[in-house]
Amino acid sequence: MKISVIILAAGFGTRMKSNLPKVLHKISGYPMIYHVIEQSQKLSDDIHAIVYHQKEKVIEQIEKDFKGINFHTQDVENFSGTGGALMGVEVKHEKVLILCGDMPLIDEKDLKGFLNLDAHVVLGVFKAKNPTGYGRIIEQNGQVKAIVEQKDASEEKQKIDIVNAGVYAFDKQFLQNALPRLENKNAQNEYYLTDLIKIANEQGKSVKSILVDEQDFMGVNSKAQLALAEEIMQDKIKQNLMEAGVIMRLPKTIYIDAKAKFEGECIIENGVSIEGECVIKNCHIKANSIIESSYMENSDAGPMARIRPDSKIINTHIGNFVEVKKSILNGVKAGHLSYLGDSEIDEGTNVGCGTITCNYDGMKKHKTIIGKNVFIGSDTQLVAPVKVEDDVIIAAGTTVTKDVSKGSLAIARSQLKQVKDFYYKYFKAKDVKK
Ligand code: UD1
Ligand code: CA
Repeated sequence: MKISVIILAAGFGTRMKSNLPKVLHKISGYPMIYHVIEQSQKLSDDIHAIVYHQKEKVIEQIEKDFKGINFHTQDVENFSGTGGALMGVEVKHEKVLILCGDMPLIDEKDLKGFLNLDAHVVLGVFKAKNPTGYGRIIEQNGQVKAIVEQKDASEEKQKIDIVNAGVYAFDKQFLQNALPRLENKNAQNEYYLTDLIKIANEQGKSVKSILVDEQDFMGVNSKAQLALAEEIMQDKIKQNLMEAGVIMRLPKTIYIDAKAKFEGECIIENGVSIEGECVIKNCHIKANSIIESSYMENSDAGPMARIRPDSKIINTHIGNFVEVKKSILNGVKAGHLSYLGDSEIDEGTNVGCGTITCNYDGMKKHKTIIGKNVFIGSDTQLVAPVKVEDDVIIAAGTTVTKDVSKGSLAIARSQLKQVKDFYYKYFKAKDVKK
């Protein structure tokens, strides 16, 4: 069935107490409205977003990653509220699904239920553990007659715990007909979308409700709810990955972005963060490591390793306290305490403890290229741009400032001096002074 989707995102998000527009706050690495748009795209080719508050920021962000979203600016001065948001919006299809930009946990599978029911109005409801803040459902003989908002509800009505989830499917004709009939005579002087239910009943139109899951349809209005939604989404992401074969030690302590991909057999230990669009194939990521927007295959990293964006790590061992950035490592061993940035390191090369690629000269970043079978001694600095060819030995403590040719030894050390019995003289002299 062809449907249009309208995502409401014009509100002030006051309860969020933030300078960032509410719908741009991130859940599992992506602005919460992204999750809503992605689910919408699975259902519709005609997606609209209603904006107003900080609309430039919202539109700019969304347009970075999505094409073809139709933006509408709500006339908030004259028509505030969720009903006002829909006024004047022209959509393509006969059925219109209304979603909120602050519901990052909704899933296309649940939304399909709204479209399969034949009625002028379909709305989602749930029995809330704590109904405070939600619109209360007024029923008569199993039929939804009206929705009363928290701020307009009498003490009696506030006791109702069946609430409006805030997701609806409308018949377009009904919507266009009923929107001009909305009034703003209520506690908030707003045009409530929820009053359309009463209008539908008055006009004898069919209204059906669907029981939905409270968690999946939760709205994020505050930072506490943001944290809660994050936890729920993280649980889902990790559950799906474990079902697909990923081993996780203490999954509660692991963070994984929504776009991370795992293939083959992977082990993720406690405290690991996988951020951005990572692809991780047959890898063991050890405790408390961070992997950001990188590709890893047949490798291990950590404990306490940090792989920063745009790295490609294949058949490689990365040990503790190693930081890698924008580097290609293929068949490399880097067991301890190193910084490898803007580098390419080839097969069979061993990176000794304390190796540093000096990639930044204060103005620009430069590359370090290291060939095959290079033995880099401990405490080596490679001052980029620099190239080390295959089969090279770099002596411990060397600062490499020139390219090193194939098969060579590179050594840059000052001579070691020994002063006999210096220790005894030194401390005795001190004692004498006292
Ligand atoms: C709304 C519902 C309430 C329901 C709850 C579910 C109304 C009047 N109330 O309340 O019945 O239980 O959602 O979560 O609809 N928005 C606009 N323009 C506006 C005002 C809001 O686009 O003028 C957008 C917001 O950006 C947000 C969505 O509409 O994405 C919902 O607004 P919000 O203020 O969060 O409504 P609730 O008070 O949660
Ligand atoms: Ca809300």
